[in-house]
Amino acid sequence: MSMKSAKSHYGTVAITIHWVSAVLIIALLVLGFRASGTLDPIAKASLLRVHAALGVSILLLTLARVAWWRFDSRPDAIGGGPRWQELSAKAVHVLFYLIIIGMAASGIGMFAVSSAAPIVFGGEGSLPDFNQYPPRVPHGVGARAMIILLILHAGAALYHHFIKRDATLRRMWFARRM
Ligand code: HEM
Repeated sequence: MSMKSAKSHYGTVAITIHWVSAVLIIALLVLGFRASGTLDPIAKASLLRVHAALGVSILLLTLARVAWWRFDSRPDAIGGGPRWQELSAKAVHVLFYLIIIGMAASGIGMFAVSSAAPIVFGGEGSLPDFNQYPPRVPHGVGARAMIILLILHAGAALYHHFIKRDATLRRMWFARRM
């Protein structure tokens, strides 16, 4: 398989970024909701340590993904479906980028305005109440929007795979091709 995508399938770089991002996003959602629902300050700080580190990682990976698409070209649309499906798939992709960047920015913003970083990473002092800081609102709204997008995105992929039986999901996986 080649690093770059071809007309009919994604390349190894795009596939790796896609699935690593998927795992990171699911881990971030689980860790974020666990952290906000945890009262024990030591457990909360531990969850937030991993959460913040993964949050910055997904931001860097997303920026790397945007940069990568300047070198690579997406495969052709599979076609055969209505135009609205193609357009909504594109809209979901753009929204993913925007929400990931917005979530990372609001998360970093929360740490900055509450001065939580030395407490979370250095263990000094007591954790702030993040609900008192404005970036907490877009962070919570973005998390819920992200879940809706994930359901739409995964639902569409499964619909293509199992109902339409086309290559939409297959071409986003590693396979030896002739
Ligand atoms: C794409 C990246 C991210 C995702 C998907 C994400 C997801 C979440 C979720 C689901 C919550 C819980 C929301 C709620 O209960 O309403 C949360 C809370 C939080 N996240 Fe993130 N997050 C991301 C990035 C970051 C980053 C980069 C930081 C910090 C550097 C951060 C810091 C926090 C903090 C401080 C909370 C609040 C915890 C609390 O309320 O006690 N997040 N995040």
